[in-house]
Amino acid sequence: MRVPLNDPTEPTLPFEPYKVKVAERIPNPSREDRERALVRAGFNLFNLHSDEVRIDLLTDSGTGAMSDRQWAALMIGDESYAGSRNFARFESTVRSITGFRHILPTHQGRAAENLLFSTLCRPGNVVPNNMHFDTTRAHVLRNGGRPVNIAVRDAYDPQSDFPFKGNVDVPALDALLRREGRENVPLVMVTITNNTGGGQPVSLANFREVARTARAHGVPLYVDMCRWAENAYFVRERERGMRAKSIAEIGRAFFDLCDGATMSAKKDGLVNIGGFVATRDRSLAGRMKELLILYEGFPTYGGLARRDLEAMSVGLEEAMDLDYLTHRVEQVRYVAGLLDARAVPFFHPVGGHGIYLDVRRFLPHLSDEDLPGQALAVELYREGGLRTVEVGSIMFGPDKGSKSPPLELVRLAIPRRVYSASHLAFVADVVARVYERRADVRGLTMVYRPERLPHFTARFAPKRGASSRAPRAGRAAPRRKQTQ
Ligand code: F0G
Repeated sequence: MRVPLNDPTEPTLPFEPYKVKVAERIPNPSREDRERALVRAGFNLFNLHSDEVRIDLLTDSGTGAMSDRQWAALMIGDESYAGSRNFARFESTVRSITGFRHILPTHQGRAAENLLFSTLCRPGNVVPNNMHFDTTRAHVLRNGGRPVNIAVRDAYDPQSDFPFKGNVDVPALDALLRREGRENVPLVMVTITNNTGGGQPVSLANFREVARTARAHGVPLYVDMCRWAENAYFVRERERGMRAKSIAEIGRAFFDLCDGATMSAKKDGLVNIGGFVATRDRSLAGRMKELLILYEGFPTYGGLARRDLEAMSVGLEEAMDLDYLTHRVEQVRYVAGLLDARAVPFFHPVGGHGIYLDVRRFLPHLSDEDLPGQALAVELYREGGLRTVEVGSIMFGPDKGSKSPPLELVRLAIPRRVYSASHLAFVADVVARVYERRADVRGLTMVYRPERLPHFTARFAPKRGASSRAPRAGRAAPRRKQTQ
């Protein structure tokens, strides 16, 4: 639902389908505070204290507001070590949503990935995915495998308005499976929505083709279902014949095509912590259970308090609510509309959980060596205390002398049920102000580089002197029309 405004040039406001029951103060660090914080943090926004952040768009993971029903659910936690009734409800909720038989709770998504990849992936194996999220990629690598991204070509074009830019390039998948053979590909994985590529959805038609191809080669298909309800929302909106279906029905159509899933319930489970791995394969479940007990906890709690399982059961149900999902997507579109009005370049069309700024068009005077995504994230913090995250050459950058990744983005992830339309208008204004003075933004150098997942702990310093390329004058190139 949208609130119409008197001024037709303003984007209409997304109407929050909830009211506030608990208030949390928003910090307001001064410009000097922010400059000091940047130096202390080594220009890595992961190192900021939350009290130094005005609007926190670092992630939509575990940062949402639980509902009153979820808080009430915490009170009926049955903290038995084994056989808790909260596990029984959790298991039946996940089974009814996904249809998978074996459900193993974990403390979050990467723990589910650890169980799946440590069990299935051997040195030299190849794992295809539309686009690996950073932890998924790291788990494949840690087990000696080679992660291969096989999204459609449009996924790499920030200006294309193709409605399903999360789709897999099926001929490329088929060629890979032919080349490698089923012995060398332990599973095919598809991430819905495709977080690394702008939060873009995968169509059901494409997923059917992926499933057919994987089956033809005898390779199991798993889905990374972190944002499956948002994916289903877009399928309902954009795919022929889907409008009359519920989110649950669309989700089930996906799950019925695959062998199992990993889930971070910190996203479409609407909890602050929690996740699971699910499969139809009894023997695989047994092997994963052994690791679960070793690393997470007994299979009826998996590293969580039992009350957390109860909150997760409620959250998984609430995430399928159409009013909630409509508002969520409209919040993202609201920011996109405000940015569009000021010609700020971002990844099109916007997805379900955030805006991804198109750094190469935002800062055309910086080259990849200037770490432009990180430089832009730092500048957004400096300008208005926004915390965002680079999704580009640092998160997915050259491990050993390889080329820069095809996309250089800065993600403004919108936490669930947390910020209001006026907060988002402020966010858009800060971004637009930085865009107006973009020629002044200088690059960064990395002064400390950890070996794995560098974006979390790397440290940076501003580059001295002029930028490596002369600033290009004028506004960003005009983009193609948006389909929605
Ligand atoms: N898969 C995807 C697609 C994700 O986006 C994430 C987390 C994970 C797996 C891992 O889940 O954090 O619960 O261990 N994404 C967060 C983000 C961190 O900011 O996008 P986790």
